[in-house]
Amino acid sequence: MQATAQIGVTGLAVMGRNLARNFARHGYTVAVHNRTPARTKALVEEFGHEGAFVAAGSAEEFVAALERPRRLMIMVQAGAATDAVIEEFAPLLEPGDMIIDGGNAHFADTRRRERSLRERGIHFVGAGVSGGEEGALNGPSIMPGGSPESYASLGPMFEKISAKVDGEPCTTHVGTDGAGHFVKMVHNGIEYADMQLIGEAYDLLRQVAGLSPAAIAEIFRDWNKGRLDSYLIEITAEVLSHVDAATGRPFVDVVADAAGQKGTGRWTVQTALELGSPVTAIAQATFARAASGQSALRHAYRGLPGGTSWDLTPYEAQRFTAQVEQALYASKVIAYDQGWKMILDAAEEFGWEIDLGAVAKIWRGGCIIRAAFLDRIRAAYAADPGLVSLLSDTGFAAEIKDAQVPWREVIATAARRGVPVPAFSAALSYYDSLRADRLPAALTQGQRDYFGAHTYRRVDREGSFHTLWGTADRAETQA
Ligand code: ATR
Repeated sequence: MQATAQIGVTGLAVMGRNLARNFARHGYTVAVHNRTPARTKALVEEFGHEGAFVAAGSAEEFVAALERPRRLMIMVQAGAATDAVIEEFAPLLEPGDMIIDGGNAHFADTRRRERSLRERGIHFVGAGVSGGEEGALNGPSIMPGGSPESYASLGPMFEKISAKVDGEPCTTHVGTDGAGHFVKMVHNGIEYADMQLIGEAYDLLRQVAGLSPAAIAEIFRDWNKGRLDSYLIEITAEVLSHVDAATGRPFVDVVADAAGQKGTGRWTVQTALELGSPVTAIAQATFARAASGQSALRHAYRGLPGGTSWDLTPYEAQRFTAQVEQALYASKVIAYDQGWKMILDAAEEFGWEIDLGAVAKIWRGGCIIRAAFLDRIRAAYAADPGLVSLLSDTGFAAEIKDAQVPWREVIATAARRGVPVPAFSAALSYYDSLRADRLPAALTQGQRDYFGAHTYRRVDREGSFHTLWGTADRAETQA
C-alpha cells in the first residue's frame, strides 16, 4: 500500500467516524481502520464522496498507508481498549511517529502512556476532543497535550478541523503529556457546575416566582442576549419550551428527575481532592446528580418539613427574576474561577506550562460550555497573564460587587422556602471563605493540636507550637 495518508483514524464509532470525515472534508487524505471491518466499509460507502479515504483492512495496511512521520489517531473506548490498541500499533511504528488518543482518557493514564511510548521514541498525544458527535464533524474544540514537536506536526491539522471563533481556531498546544486530557476533564467538571447552576435558577423561578416552564424558557431566551449568552442557556430554553407530545405536559415534567453521568465530573472532583483544589461548585454539581439518583433516600426524606412558602406579586416575581440572573452569573464566575485555579494547581504539580487565556480561547467554540463569557476570561488573561483569580480582573470584580445583594437575597430566599441550591450556596460560601480576614481554620488547628498534637503555627511568631492540653497550666511548647 502506498503511504499517501496524512492522518489515520482507528476506531470508527460515532466520534471516530465524524473526526475522520472532518479531516477528509478539509482536504486531508485519511486512512481509516476499525477492529470490525464492517464499520470501515460502511464509512467509505456512505461518505467516501466527501474526501480522500484509504480503507485499511488490517493494522499493517493501516500503518503502511500513513505518510512519515505517521500520525495515527485512536478513537476507541477509554481504558483497557485504548491500551490494547496502542499495544497493537506501537510495534508497527518507528521513532518520530505519533499516536494521538482522541478519546476521553483519564489524564493519569495519558501520562503513563506518554512516558512509556516516549521511551520507544514515539510521540503520544492525549487530545481532549469536545463537542460531541456534531462537533467532531463540523468543528470541535481540541485540547492536545504532548511534545512540542508533535504539536508542530499536528497543530496545523487540528487548527483546520477545529471550530473557529472570530476566525481563530479552537485548539492550542495545551501542555506536555496529560495536560490536554486534564484540561478536557476540568472542562467537563465546569460543564457539570454550569448545568447545575442553570438547573437551580430554573427551580427557583419555578418554585419561588411560580413561573411555568414556558415562561422560564422566555426568560432564558432573554438572558441569552446578555452576559449569560451561551450554548447551555440556549438549549435550556429549548428544553423548557418543549411540550411532551404524548401527554401535552411540559417535557421537563415527564422526565425522571435522576441525573446520569459518564464519570468525568467525578474524575474532576477526585483529582481536585488530591490536588487540594477547592472546586466546591463542581463538587456540589456532581453530588447533586448523585443525590438525585438516591431513590430510597429521597423516599425516606420526602414529606419532611421544609421552608415556608408565599406567593410573589407579579412585580416581586419580576424583581426576583432579575436577582436570580445576578446570582446565576456571580455563581458562574466563581465556578469557572475554581476550574481555572484547579488547572493552575495541576500545572504546578505536574510541571505543565499552561496558558490559561488560551484555554478560555479554545473553549469559546466547539464545546458544550462555549459562551460569550469565555471571551471575557480570555481578555482578562490577555490583560494580565499572571491572574491568580478571575476576581483580580477589574471587570469581573465590578460585576461581583454589583451582585452582592441579589446573590445573597436569592440564596436566603431559597433557604427560607426550602428550595435546594447546593451550587449557588457553594459558590457564595467559597467567595465568603476566600475574602475573609480570619477563618475558623484557626479553631480547627486548635482542635487538631488538642486531640492529636498536630501542632500549629502562630500569627505572631515563626515556628511550630504545641500546647500541653493535659497539664494544669497548658504550657506552650515549640516543636
Ligand atoms: P463512541 O463514543 O464514539 O461511540 P466508543 O464507544 O468510545 O465510541 O468506542 C467504540 C470504538 O472502539 C469502536 O470502533 C470499537 O470497535 P468495534 O467497532 O470493533 O466494536 C472500538 N474498540 C473497542 N474496544 C476495542 C479493542 N479492544 N480493540 C480495538 N477496537 C476497539
